[in-house]
Amino acid sequence: MIPDSLRQKLEARATTGALRVLQTSALAVDFCSNDYLGIARERLLPHDPDLNGGSTGSRLLAGNYPLLTIVEDEIAAFHGEEAALVYNSGYDANLGLLSSILQKEDTILYDALSHASIRDGLRLSFAKAYAFKHNDMEDLERLLRRARGSAAESGGPATGGESAARGAVYVVTESLFSMDGDLCPIEALAALAERYGAWLIVDEAHATGVVGSRGEGLVQSKNQKVFARIHTFGKALGCHGAVIVGSKALKEYLVNFSRSLIYTTALPPAAAGLIRKTYQLFPTMTAERQSLETLAKQFQRLDLPYERLTSHTPIQAVLVPGNNAARATAGALQASGLDVRPILSPTVKEGTERLRIVLHAYNTKEEVELLGRLLIKTAKNN
Ligand SMILES: Cc1ncc(COP(=O)(O)O)c(C=O)c1O
Repeated sequence: MIPDSLRQKLEARATTGALRVLQTSALAVDFCSNDYLGIARERLLPHDPDLNGGSTGSRLLAGNYPLLTIVEDEIAAFHGEEAALVYNSGYDANLGLLSSILQKEDTILYDALSHASIRDGLRLSFAKAYAFKHNDMEDLERLLRRARGSAAESGGPATGGESAARGAVYVVTESLFSMDGDLCPIEALAALAERYGAWLIVDEAHATGVVGSRGEGLVQSKNQKVFARIHTFGKALGCHGAVIVGSKALKEYLVNFSRSLIYTTALPPAAAGLIRKTYQLFPTMTAERQSLETLAKQFQRLDLPYERLTSHTPIQAVLVPGNNAARATAGALQASGLDVRPILSPTVKEGTERLRIVLHAYNTKEEVELLGRLLIKTAKNN
């Protein structure tokens, strides 16, 4: 399912014979790729299959090869969706999704702590965008009511996601917040989106591989259905790239209108191969997910002289207000051999500067204890 506004744009493309489809090239005589010197095809590929060159073009030209299609189909099946579309990064995915689906008459409501790539996607659109307070469902409902007008205000049923006068309403959020480490209330979000006929988009960048019994992400682990999910490969999956999963119609729309997909060289086959391998691996990594959970609990139990945000995930925020103080505290930990980085304003709101502690399955109980001890020491020295 996609909003009528997007369907109409696709139909207009079809009517003028301009509809784009992904196709793989099976023809021998290459007058299409950008591999001008033949490095990808002639020099690298025959000699070193592990170093098999670039994709040699954008997805709509020479850059669409069978492995990429296989990977997309497997990822769509894993996430229980009709279709998946790989992007070169999570930044590109958010930019390409939001800037293309949002029409001038639409409204989008976004969590105030949304990642820069979401905000930049919104900036590239002409839709009206309003932030709701972080994870605050009352605030979101207030904005949904305003966006929807009086019909929903009186508690009437949603009207299929679009009102002719106002365009479509979207809600976008992250599932596991990159700086606070908390989760969005996905059930409440999905219920509100349904009630107000809004299209829900969830960025699962930090939840992928981590949340859910197979690392499938928050949406799926809570049996929710949303309009689009963004899963990225550069975090728990240890490689690079991202995917948007959703309906076939959404994929078709993106292939036609998403500029960060259309106007860039596709990921190389080596990257696609790596993504495929990690998607075969991370669902099996139950022990690692358990170990992360245990370390998060241990970290939350530490008695620290700093305010900490509540988090059951690998991202733990220790608040050290002030850019100088955050930088100095991280520096002291680094001097003791711990790679801890400060997150400064304006990346986070002034006064909430912090150490962003990232836990890994390979960190030990003893390392977390050491971190706790050193944090106490840095506070004493301040
Ligand atoms: C929530 C969120 N979305 C998207 C991105 C961008 O992903 P990528 O690094 O693959 O561009 C990030 C990266 O920090 C992120 O935290």
